[in-house]
Amino acid sequence: MAQVPHASALDPKSIQQLVLRSHEAKKFAYCPYSHFPVGAAVLTTDERIFSGCNVENCVYPLGVCAERTAIQKAVSEGHKDFKAIAIASDLQDDFISPCGACRQVMREFGANWDVYMTKPDGTYVVQSVQELLPTSFGPEDLHKKK
Ligand code: THU
Repeated sequence: MAQVPHASALDPKSIQQLVLRSHEAKKFAYCPYSHFPVGAAVLTTDERIFSGCNVENCVYPLGVCAERTAIQKAVSEGHKDFKAIAIASDLQDDFISPCGACRQVMREFGANWDVYMTKPDGTYVVQSVQELLPTSFGPEDLHKKK
């Protein structure tokens, strides 16, 4: 099966800015139950950044991850073409990795864009949505021959 080419790499300044915005967003995390703050910042193809944090609820399943907060903020303001998303947590020794639900929400808006998984010191690893969610189900599948 042909692989979709990897999304074009961002320039170092844009990466640094996106990572910084994800860490800033983490400061607003509402996580009184998990005590696990997460921030995310999504970069649109027209160079806008939308950021978000996790927002928990006393009805636990209603909590929303930082990645989905950021994506939903962007989409609800008319931006759904994404280049990249950066994710930040307080884990010192691990790059924060998006949950399965967030991977599927990212996939809704394409498989060929990049996810920067960071540490508090600003270092990161990057993988495409395609790499994080291979053999995925996407919106196109709804219209295939039945
Ligand atoms: N969380 C995120 O916001 N993003 C992730 O990538 C991992 C987990 C949140 C959900 C919940 O509020 C807390 O972190 C603990 O799972």
